[in-house]
Amino acid sequence: MAPYRSSEWFGKTGKMGFLYRSWMKNQGTPDHMFDGRPVIGICNTWSELTPCNGHFRDLAESVKRGVLEAGGFPVEFPIMSLGETLLKPTAMLFRNLASMDTEESIRGNPIDGVVLLTGCDKTTPSTMMGAASVDLPTIVVPGGPMLNGKYKGTDIGSGTAVWKLTDDLKTNKISYNEYLAAEGCMSRSAGHCMTMGTASTMACMVESLGMCLPGSAATPAVDSRKKIMAHMSGRRIVEMVKEDLKISKVLTRAAFENAIKVNAAIGGSSNFVIHLTAIAGRIGVELNLDDFDKLGSKIPLLLNLMPSGKYLMEDFYYAGGLPVIIDQLRKELNMENITVTGKGHGENIAELNTCYNTEVIAPLNEPLIPEAGIAVLKGNLAVNGAVIKPSAASPELMVHTGRAVVFETIEDYHARVDDPELDIDETCVMVLQNVGPVGYPGMPEVGNMILPQKLLEKGITDMVRISDGRMSGTAYGTVVLHVSPEAAIGGALALVKNGDMITLDVPARKIHLEVSDEELALRRAQWVQPAYHTDRGYVSMYQRHVQQADKGADLDFLVGGSGSSVQRDSH
Ligand code: FES
Ligand code: MG
Repeated sequence: MAPYRSSEWFGKTGKMGFLYRSWMKNQGTPDHMFDGRPVIGICNTWSELTPCNGHFRDLAESVKRGVLEAGGFPVEFPIMSLGETLLKPTAMLFRNLASMDTEESIRGNPIDGVVLLTGCDKTTPSTMMGAASVDLPTIVVPGGPMLNGKYKGTDIGSGTAVWKLTDDLKTNKISYNEYLAAEGCMSRSAGHCMTMGTASTMACMVESLGMCLPGSAATPAVDSRKKIMAHMSGRRIVEMVKEDLKISKVLTRAAFENAIKVNAAIGGSSNFVIHLTAIAGRIGVELNLDDFDKLGSKIPLLLNLMPSGKYLMEDFYYAGGLPVIIDQLRKELNMENITVTGKGHGENIAELNTCYNTEVIAPLNEPLIPEAGIAVLKGNLAVNGAVIKPSAASPELMVHTGRAVVFETIEDYHARVDDPELDIDETCVMVLQNVGPVGYPGMPEVGNMILPQKLLEKGITDMVRISDGRMSGTAYGTVVLHVSPEAAIGGALALVKNGDMITLDVPARKIHLEVSDEELALRRAQWVQPAYHTDRGYVSMYQRHVQQADKGADLDFLVGGSGSSVQRDSH
């Protein structure tokens, strides 16, 4: 093997070699670590402000032990960490920024292979996007879900419990003190959301793409085997560098197709669509919105996890985890496409395919829902598409025509939704405008609007809702999301008025505003584009360059990659 790229730093003689090595030695690094061995970057998204990744300093130590054992030189580095719960106005606004941070941190440093430590929703796609644009050997260590939430003798799930308990509080089914007690009961160990929310979806995406060791996705954060996975990933990345097994060899079109099919079978988050599309854009794999419907919508739901079902990630792990799902779908999947192990899924899961609980993972011939994947809707209301997750929706609302009740902004929604005078009933369609990538900005998870109090009190649990935003992967309901083009750039969503009729027809993949083209043209002529939120900083750049949801909401100039070579020295 030719010298690794780190030798362009540590292998130099003279002044530059002195510079590149000397400062590293202040950390107690002996001479022999600079002898040309693979240097492994451990990209750590640890932060106390990203509680889901709060255990990552420990996890990084396990990776380091594995790297050292295999003869590599581990170097841990931080990047911007995105926590889903605290970051305002939404972590999604910064996904592309963190991806730039990851990309430049890898490329600019003496790194031959990368380990990505990922957990909370955006930490996975952002680091994957950045790593893909550099294209070095890369392995992911998914940080693992929290243990099941336990509350008053029942299991409660991250996020899902918040929506449910908030409805209960609003209708006086529980007291405020009970509500408060549930907070600690829901989040009781290290790890990310343990529902099949976006973080679990992303971990399963990583595993189905072949980017982590088999079985990693479902292993709980606090299980000792999570540390073993991290340790073994550290060993493996050193070999991957020696084999020159770059991320682009793993992330082929076949890998993306596998991920789409697996995501359908697990009832994964609608956010999967945006993130997978953005990753594909970075690695140069052709993938469009229609592929998700074509490849995934006929795949049956096998995994019985909240929010679509009953159980949680810990149960999924004990039932056998993702290898069981991959095994059940083997006729649908490409089992040969190379993964980080250097082998295909077929070989990877040969001894991991026993299902230990068919309540949690249903057999293929008795699925929970026969066709579960994300459906892509089109029509005059969403010319470039919108998505709905049928496994989280109500069957009786899948074909529905109703009167639009329009909220122009999220503030407008909050101000009026619980007003007893609001002219709305359960047959109406709730429309929320200006929560797309440009409009909010950052496309927050507000699409699953909580229903008006007066309808909740009537016992109504679901209504058709439409927006250009996203919804939390832990949420549920008949919710049409990611409408493209979004309202803030003049999509038809901006032109909807109170009282317009809207037809949703999921089997026909249609979302239609029952307003004539002439009337729409008139309204369009009167439409005034909302001003950008700011003229400076990252947000200004984001609003001017972000692509629409159907393209993955990446910044236009970040699509593709720049490879790993850097021509000039630093001094
Ligand atoms: Fe971090 Fe859900 S909030 S994974
Ligand atoms: Mg989320």
